[in-house]
Amino acid sequence: MKTDLPQSFRRLEYRPPVYTFDQVELDIALDPARTIIKSRIEVLPGKSFEAGAPLVLVGQELEFVSLRINGEAHRHFELTPEFLTIHSLPNEGRDKFFVEIICVCVPEKNTSLMGLYVSNGNFFTQCEAEGFRKITYFLDRPDVMERYRVTLRAREAECPVLLSNGNLLISEKLPNGWHSATWEDPFPKPSYLFALVAGKLECIEETITTSSGAQKLLQIWVEPHDLKKTRHAMDSLIASIHWDEKRFGLELDLERFMIVAVGDFNMGAMENKGLNIFNTKFVLAQPETATDADFANIESVVAHEYFHNWTGNRVTCQDWFQLSLKEGLTVFRDQEFSADQMGSESGRAVKRIEDVRLLRQLQFPEDAGPMAHPIRPDEYQEISNFYTVTVYEKGSEVVRMYQTLLGKDGFRKGMDLYFKRHDGQAVTCDDFLMAMADANGRDLTQFRNWYSQAGTPRVKVQEHYDPSKKQYQITLIQSCAPSAGQPEKKPFHIPLKMRLITKGNNQVEQLLELTQANQSWTFDSIDERPVLSMNRNFSAPIHLDFEQSEADLLTLFSSDDDPFNRWEAAQRLAMQMILNNRLPDEKLINAYRNLLLDPKLDPAFKELALTLPAESYLYEQCASVDPQKIFAARRAFRREIAKQLQLEWAALYQQMQTPGPFKSDAVDVGKRALKNLALSMLLEANKDVWAPMAVNQYRIADNMTERYAALAGLVIHGTREAKDCLIDFFERFANDALVIDKWFGLQSSRPPVDGLEPTLSDVKKLREHPAFKMNNPNRVRSVIHAFCSNNPASFHQVDGSGYEFWADSVLALDSINPQVAARLARALDRWRLFSQPYQDKMKASLERVAACPTLSPDTREVVGKALGN
Ligand code: TRP
Ligand code: ZN
Repeated sequence: MKTDLPQSFRRLEYRPPVYTFDQVELDIALDPARTIIKSRIEVLPGKSFEAGAPLVLVGQELEFVSLRINGEAHRHFELTPEFLTIHSLPNEGRDKFFVEIICVCVPEKNTSLMGLYVSNGNFFTQCEAEGFRKITYFLDRPDVMERYRVTLRAREAECPVLLSNGNLLISEKLPNGWHSATWEDPFPKPSYLFALVAGKLECIEETITTSSGAQKLLQIWVEPHDLKKTRHAMDSLIASIHWDEKRFGLELDLERFMIVAVGDFNMGAMENKGLNIFNTKFVLAQPETATDADFANIESVVAHEYFHNWTGNRVTCQDWFQLSLKEGLTVFRDQEFSADQMGSESGRAVKRIEDVRLLRQLQFPEDAGPMAHPIRPDEYQEISNFYTVTVYEKGSEVVRMYQTLLGKDGFRKGMDLYFKRHDGQAVTCDDFLMAMADANGRDLTQFRNWYSQAGTPRVKVQEHYDPSKKQYQITLIQSCAPSAGQPEKKPFHIPLKMRLITKGNNQVEQLLELTQANQSWTFDSIDERPVLSMNRNFSAPIHLDFEQSEADLLTLFSSDDDPFNRWEAAQRLAMQMILNNRLPDEKLINAYRNLLLDPKLDPAFKELALTLPAESYLYEQCASVDPQKIFAARRAFRREIAKQLQLEWAALYQQMQTPGPFKSDAVDVGKRALKNLALSMLLEANKDVWAPMAVNQYRIADNMTERYAALAGLVIHGTREAKDCLIDFFERFANDALVIDKWFGLQSSRPPVDGLEPTLSDVKKLREHPAFKMNNPNRVRSVIHAFCSNNPASFHQVDGSGYEFWADSVLALDSINPQVAARLARALDRWRLFSQPYQDKMKASLERVAACPTLSPDTREVVGKALGN
């Protein structure tokens, strides 16, 4: 008999809690080898209460010490590795009672980075989604919300700083060099928002006044040597606070708001109430050590976590199937914030293009693969596998579609009603939809399909122009490929912005609402055949199936007034040619040239227009992928653009210099981006001629954007000069972990170069490097994930060596950190899309991983679904 069948959780099996909590007191004596946790919990009947029902608490990897109820030792309980089940409750549980539990955990042995762990000698917690159960026995579910009072104790010499959620009540000296701090959070919250931090940290702080005139203390806590790198995060936090007041009328509700940076972290950051904990990567920045992209990422992650204070914390999720309720909405909010920070319409378009590029590169493949799920999944084995680009990025696109359908004001009305109805509650995606519908008097029943159906819808466009009637007609046909458990899909409600581009320029933008499988629209008084600009600003997250002529695409590329679709036309032209193994023809080269020389266009936009579609997006257009062929075709296409426009690239390289003191405004950021693209194109055209210029840029740069771009150009193009610059870079930044991550990451992402060893042999050497650490997620991601997930042409080798390295790495990581291993395991998701011999070799490696008897539930779910079990 098979006893290790994976356990699945289903959305429709949701039951409200049998018991619920009110006041919780925690007393935690911190010790890396043996932390003692005492809890005192006020328990009440919950919505599914039945007299006599046991209280079932979850706990994981805890040493149980004792249990008391209403002050008396209690013997009626059962303990399993997962549950503490308490029987014989006073008055069969009808009245409130107090449970006191003492247990122990071992932070220094916790390499999963979930629950309480140690990083560089300091203590941190990560409780979302189900980490609190590794700290104490609890109702660790988001629909149980309680008030916390937390006393932290530690040796003062080792842990001078003791932080938790809310307000500091008292700090005290204790005997034997110990001390304590007691924190109280005035807002009830689910356990996943609990946090503590303790150790040798220092902070920068600011006091600000919010819209209602209240004073707030903002702090950013880091290791002392990093204090000088916190200014940008603080500025981003202040800008986020003001933006949320202005755009949504939402104010900071706490007297104190803290951000803490930690070097060992599974994800980007975490929105714990009043005590956000961040991966150092999304806090620390100075121009000398962080690129323009790092600065932008910090701004958006700081905003994201801050925005969760309302969308996630004040209104939280009923259960984890509703994750997109907070994540999709909060990503939408951070995207809008970042777009507003750009300060111009064209800046907004640049941000939109970047967001869509990410969606297509990562989410479209997910939606077509074995882990495809609706933004509100129906089933999971391990919830941490569902912090996906679908839940986050597609979730944000779904929220954006409300705004497109209802208008900005209508969307705001919906948000206001959502908070009016649900502040302080744990709710569902349906509740959000109903608030949007009711506030606007709209029936959004069909819009629900975006929540229940996986897969990227395909919209086929047929156009017809009748010159005698001066009539233009379009027919839209929507479809969506089957996905697991969903053989047939109902039509989606798809908002499509469109405009007819005519010589008379007299047609305005319109919003078409595609609701049927097949729908037509007729436009009258159209004097000549128009060019259709469809799905403007990417108003819906779909595949557009439209055989537009190259002439029409060139028209859109040179003159569409929607900058997104202008970019899109260039992408489609390039994509079609690459997939047909063609080089750019004269017309396209001329269009590129005109764009590059157009003084009215932003450099940032030009850079995006000349950046080719990612290999992973090209794969999705094929029935059977030959990764080496796609790599070669894309590379040849790029080399042709580089060579044909070599004079222009050289001129741009000079024109886009940003002399004088370093500035990180949108204008200079755009110039640096275009200049660095020019450098990379010049190296592409002729590396021997241009390498000395790259070395020069590397040497004289006063900022990481330029220094890194120069180094990357030298490495990626396989120049002789790369070696010395890599040595210099390592020595220069040996003490800066985030920069050393870049050093590892760059070498692991080098695509194949004729005459050089395959990248895999470099990666294997990097893994043996003294600075490589298998239990630091950032370092692992910069070597292993970068190679397996972001370097397709090096990873997909006919001999299967990349896949064997992948399998070895997944297995090695799985026993250290299941979440990091499971994320790596996703690299083989699309194996069925590949041609032979790739496909069989991928399958063999998947099977080798699946055969490991001790695999974590995280990795088991990923490889199990990939293999179709
Ligand atoms: N809620 C976090 C965010 O999106 C996500 C997160 C941070 C997380 N750390 C995690 C999810 C660990 C799972 C596990 O901002
Ligand atoms: Zn989030």
